[in-house]
Amino acid sequence: MAAAARTPRARRRTTGDGARAGLAAARGTKGARQAAPQVQIHHGDCLDVLPRLEPRQFHFCCIDPPFNTGSAKRSTRSGEQLGYRDSFGGLDAYIEWMRPRLVAIHRVLRDDGTVLVHCDWRASHRIRVLLDEIFGECRFLNHLVWQYGLGGSSPRMFARKHDDLLWYAKGSAWWFNAPRVPATSQRLKGQTKKATDVLEVPSINNMAKERVGWPTQKPLALLELLVGACCPPGGAVLDCFCGSGTTLVAAARLGRSAVGVDADARAVELARGRVGAGQLLSG
Ligand SMILES: C[S@@+](CC[C@H](N)C(=O)[O-])C[C@H]1O[C@@H](n2cnc3c(N)ncnc32)[C@H](O)[C@@H]1O
Repeated sequence: MAAAARTPRARRRTTGDGARAGLAAARGTKGARQAAPQVQIHHGDCLDVLPRLEPRQFHFCCIDPPFNTGSAKRSTRSGEQLGYRDSFGGLDAYIEWMRPRLVAIHRVLRDDGTVLVHCDWRASHRIRVLLDEIFGECRFLNHLVWQYGLGGSSPRMFARKHDDLLWYAKGSAWWFNAPRVPATSQRLKGQTKKATDVLEVPSINNMAKERVGWPTQKPLALLELLVGACCPPGGAVLDCFCGSGTTLVAAARLGRSAVGVDADARAVELARGRVGAGQLLSG
């Protein structure tokens, strides 16, 4: 049983336990010691897929669902239109759409698991209340700000240059390993410091090698930072709105197993391609 990750000692102890349990869950065997990270990617609405998964198996669920922008997200790749619907008929309807999906996520998290929900100014205030209802107010851990910089400015208000990432625990214990980022002060020049709840990671530019053409694709550097911080080595990660598979790639690169789900067939194809056909893929 993991202890709350409040002291380095507690963290060290939980790392070992979590790693073994995660691998066992990923391979379906008890006491399994070592295995290459497994990645499974399912096509479908996560509301249909999640009930078919074993309960209490994931250490970390990291999701980046549609934000309720009110318009479709589209991009073009080699002449092909890619994207997904992002309108739900208003904020109330969107929250009611999210509710059963977050409840389904709660079921598949381990008792020491955590969920991180990526959203923005449109719904972050309501998603937080929803997470309070499902996970409990006392399970709130962080409201992370991903500051990305790109985009235009406004003459009427401060420019909106960040997304919100809400992190909740399922129980009273969870795993955390503070990521280190470059220090900015003169005194610590050239050294690293523990990351705060403001994460400065550039968004992917149009020419970036990692870009695969899926609209709203997130930077691998951001997901590596989050997975490394919130899932123990060898543990199991879930992204049930996986899009082009950024979370899954980050998990595999960091030696974590992962399950991805997306409702769009082309997204699933892109994610499978990224993860690497055959090598890290099963199921
Ligand atoms: C913001 S995008 C995720 C982008 C992803 N983080 C990436 O880096 O590529 C949201 C994704 O949720 C998917 N989606 C929408 N409704 C869904 C549902 N009910 N179940 C599973 N996936 C869904 C969309 O197809 C889209 O790929």
